[in-house]
Amino acid sequence: MGQQDSVFMRTMIIVILGLVVLFVVIVIAARVVASGPSVSIDPTVVSKIEQQIEPVGKVELAGAAPAPAAGGKVDGQAVYQGTCFACHGTGAAGAPKIGDKAAWKARIAEGATTLYEHALKGFKGMPPKGGNTALADDAVKAAVDYLMAQGK
Ligand code: HEC
Repeated sequence: MGQQDSVFMRTMIIVILGLVVLFVVIVIAARVVASGPSVSIDPTVVSKIEQQIEPVGKVELAGAAPAPAAGGKVDGQAVYQGTCFACHGTGAAGAPKIGDKAAWKARIAEGATTLYEHALKGFKGMPPKGGNTALADDAVKAAVDYLMAQGK
């Protein structure tokens, strides 16, 4: 072998050894990464995320405390649709139907105060607050106003 060939051979051996060492290092590094502590998420972070996505997974009860309409006044129509419609929309349980002027005439004549009382506390087949005790008094009154307006 000439001088040049042996230089070439030595260089080749160094390069090959370097590659082998590099390979071993990579394999060890891969092992360390793979067997290292598994990715753990802080439980407080998990519960925070759960809190934030909670409303999406919860079923909102229809008619439970509707949001006040713009201007701070309760939207009587919304309350009616959420709670009162079940009976007053259909006449179920002998309820005076909405818009049935004959059925509402005598009741309206009793005066709003009496009708508020009856709607809030119950009256014969009419359950207190229409059975939705979560409703605020003002919400029930607003619904009575709405029923009265439709029955005039
Ligand atoms: C479970 C059925 C039912 C629901 C729900 C219901 N009502 Fe009634 N309501 C009745 C019945 C039945 C009557 C008639 C009672 C009677 O005079 O015999 C009545 C009567 C009334 C009267 C007339 C009371 C009177 O003195 O003549 C008002 C006002 C009234 N309801 C308001 C409401 C409002 C407001 C809601 C919703 C918040 C509501 N009701 C939900 C059944 C219901």
